[in-house]
Amino acid sequence: MLLRETLELLEPAGGGVFVDCTLGLGGHAEALLAADPAVRLIGIDRDPAALARARRRLAASGERVSCLEGHFGEIGELLRDAGVGGVRGILADLGVSSMQLDTPERGFSFRFEGPLDMRMGTSGPTAGDIVNDYAEADLVRIFSEYGEERQARRVARAIAAARKEHPIATTRELRDLVHRAKRQYGRRRVDPATQVFQALRIEVNRELAGLEELLRQVPNLLERGGRLVVISYQSLEDRIVKNTLRDLARGEVDEVTGRTRSETRLLEVLTRRPVRPGEVEIAANPRARSARLRAARRL
Ligand SMILES: C[S@@+](CC[C@H](N)C(=O)[O-])C[C@H]1O[C@@H](n2cnc3c(N)ncnc32)[C@H](O)[C@@H]1O
Repeated sequence: MLLRETLELLEPAGGGVFVDCTLGLGGHAEALLAADPAVRLIGIDRDPAALARARRRLAASGERVSCLEGHFGEIGELLRDAGVGGVRGILADLGVSSMQLDTPERGFSFRFEGPLDMRMGTSGPTAGDIVNDYAEADLVRIFSEYGEERQARRVARAIAAARKEHPIATTRELRDLVHRAKRQYGRRRVDPATQVFQALRIEVNRELAGLEELLRQVPNLLERGGRLVVISYQSLEDRIVKNTLRDLARGEVDEVTGRTRSETRLLEVLTRRPVRPGEVEIAANPRARSARLRAARRL
């Protein structure tokens, strides 16, 4: 998504090492490799199924590509272990891939019946573990914080009552339960279970904490002039990107003069406002509607 804008901001012409932290199906990575024969690409993904597909797609680029399985919050360690030094560009295209969303057994979407899994990787608790084992108060917190669900209490109470009868096992079971629990939701365009599913996915994959861990390491990894591009798909992520980049761009204030010590500024933000996809991209791919891109340059 936002492929042209990503390439313009990452400036792969001239080559160098580029890290795609969210390799997915390898679309952005393929375009980066095609942009200049001197580009070397390190692709990271926590999903072995995505890595296998991306490896096949990028095989023609041979030695120029390395695919690493791991969490992008550990990007520093992953690159060190792979012997990678200065990096020209880092890309994070957050969230889930269409392959993950459209595979019923992964349990990301209530459009299909499937087990309540939602893990991008292979370890850790599933959405089913959370729904069936978390205390009701924790469910309320997750639904309100990560889903911005106004009826979080009502939904959590309904879950706590239902699981006394038998464990909640599938996507459709949970969706129907949320529908019944929410008092009224009018004629909205989005399904009333959307926020609860978003909240569970964020909790299962520790998405927000991992994002901040990634962003804080970026200044240590980029060469001077190196670029970062982050594409997010929901407002909680975009807020973290905006605030963390602002912090890293601000630098430290000198206690005596009250002025910012310019040498302590680590990044320059290149996007005063987030870049949004155009009408043509949204028409071709409705999922692009919520995409927001922010970019920065290492000083
Ligand atoms: C939106 S897709 C990326 C699509 C990709 N840009 C493309 O062109 O095909 C996001 C990918 O990031 C991966 N991902 C999300 N969070 C991650 C994390 N914390 N660490 C590693 N990979 C992650 C997901 O498994 C998914 O495959």
